[in-house]
Amino acid sequence: MLSVQAQRHHHVKTRLLHIIIIWCLSVQESVQQENENSFDQGLLGLDLSKSQPNTLQLYSRASSKNIRIMGRTIDANGSVWDEDARLIIRSDSLDGRITIQGEHTGYFLCINKKGLVVGRKKIKREGSVSCVFTETIRNTYTELRLVQKTEMYLGFNKDGQAIPAHRTRPGVKSVQFLKRPLPEDNPADDTSMSSANSYSFYELIRQLATNVDATRNEDTAS
Ligand SMILES: *[C@@H]1O[C@H](CO)[C@@H](O)[C@H](O)[C@H]1NC(C)=O
Repeated sequence: MLSVQAQRHHHVKTRLLHIIIIWCLSVQESVQQENENSFDQGLLGLDLSKSQPNTLQLYSRASSKNIRIMGRTIDANGSVWDEDARLIIRSDSLDGRITIQGEHTGYFLCINKKGLVVGRKKIKREGSVSCVFTETIRNTYTELRLVQKTEMYLGFNKDGQAIPAHRTRPGVKSVQFLKRPLPEDNPADDTSMSSANSYSFYELIRQLATNVDATRNEDTAS
């Protein structure tokens, strides 16, 4: 049995722990609220569905090449100058959902019900093929998971072959990508990491929308 002193000691420790936990929770809550507030402010007056799409390349950490959409076939074996590696990214809603379309073929990057990565002419929002992703940025790398099946990530192996989505998991090289500018936008050094890397798609597209708005305002002003 514990002595009275030991019991008291234990009691004080438990209370202290409670106070610390409650303090942590309140700090977390205020941080969350701050994030939500700044998020709301950033959205004011912007309609992303009308914003410009963003064309870039997605560099696979596993294959050290770029994702390319060759119609129905998709791999991560694209060189910097490969026309199928030019990807159009759209953010079609306010919560950072994105679609990925090959500029050259017009096909969208989708995942079918077997978890295979396939190109599709049209996006289906419902049904067995999913084409809408959300982005997570982990240590500056972009990870893309399906909105409809959040445990499924877009992934490629070191040979540039797509990995069945039900065999993927977050936080590993195969599901990590870097955004890279198109070669003509970055002629000086096409191996350098783009400054776009640290921004989410959502932020990139938002920036673009802001620039377009600014240009429009200039146009109407003159
Ligand atoms: C990608 O390129 C490598 C090296 O040339 C090759 O071994 C591999 O089969 C290619 N992958 C695909 C999916 O075509």
